[in-house]
Amino acid sequence: MCYDDVDGTAGRQDAGPESPSRRAFSRLLLAGTGLAALSACTPAQSFTPSGTPGPTPGTGSSTPTAAVASTPPASSSSAPVPESTTTATQAPSAAAHPPSAAAPGPQHSLSDPTSPWVIVNKHRPLSPATFVPPDLARPAVRLATSGEAALVNSTTAAAAERMFAAAAADGVIITLASGYRSFATQRATYGSYVNSRGQAEADTASARPGYSEHQTGWAFDIGDGSGADSFTPQFKDRPAAIWAKANAHRFGFVVRYPWMLHEITGYFYEPWHLRFIGKEAAADMRARGIGTLEEYFGLEAAPAYL
Ligand code: DAL
Ligand code: ZN
Repeated sequence: MCYDDVDGTAGRQDAGPESPSRRAFSRLLLAGTGLAALSACTPAQSFTPSGTPGPTPGTGSSTPTAAVASTPPASSSSAPVPESTTTATQAPSAAAHPPSAAAPGPQHSLSDPTSPWVIVNKHRPLSPATFVPPDLARPAVRLATSGEAALVNSTTAAAAERMFAAAAADGVIITLASGYRSFATQRATYGSYVNSRGQAEADTASARPGYSEHQTGWAFDIGDGSGADSFTPQFKDRPAAIWAKANAHRFGFVVRYPWMLHEITGYFYEPWHLRFIGKEAAADMRARGIGTLEEYFGLEAAPAYL
């Protein structure tokens, strides 16, 4: 059995203590790890990161409107504490990063699911919806799952092997907890969430089929082998998550759903979900203090399905 992403970070940033989203957050926290046991287990379009979409028509938005509210919710004893480097108050907005700089290195499509820069979010489903990566591979890393969930695409696999080895050399165990998910698996996963929590809460933690990065082969979830805090916001304090946050960019990965940026990404904090975009872009994004791929590539925020 593999576990799907379960998130439970703070409620909407504009939410008051009794707002529906805040209550939803409380329920997520109460659910804790129990919910983690849910089974989950085009045309080319070149872009200038944080810039203007290239000339080729495609599915990308030309509206760089990603923005984030700046007030985090009041913390509680059970709520995760905003982090020191990726906080709402420090989170960049599109306005703080005008579309001027380009990522170093080769440019890639934002729409082609075989591109390391493909952007999949609630406004940008995979195309085709039933895409299957042509080069799925099982990385030689410590696995906490099996079957298709132990797969990622070949580029991601090679990068994961380097990253996990580097973590191990630093004395940190990282496990691959959930990698590739087919359209059918994501449909089952999302359906489990909807059945247990209702659709509104499910949409804060699990992508609908055809909308998950896991289906691209470019993303995977990590654990630390202990099972402690797996797929909960508290995982951020585990050595594996701390190490990944500090070092993933060196291997081409970003933490795709950072703290308090759900109004841009569409999902609550997932310190376990890593996404490959290449070393140059990941390092550039970090150096420029940009928290989300939507902002980095100058795309509109995608808080909800269209
Ligand atoms: N948990 C992430 C958003 C997914 O289901 O792809
Ligand atoms: Zn994930």
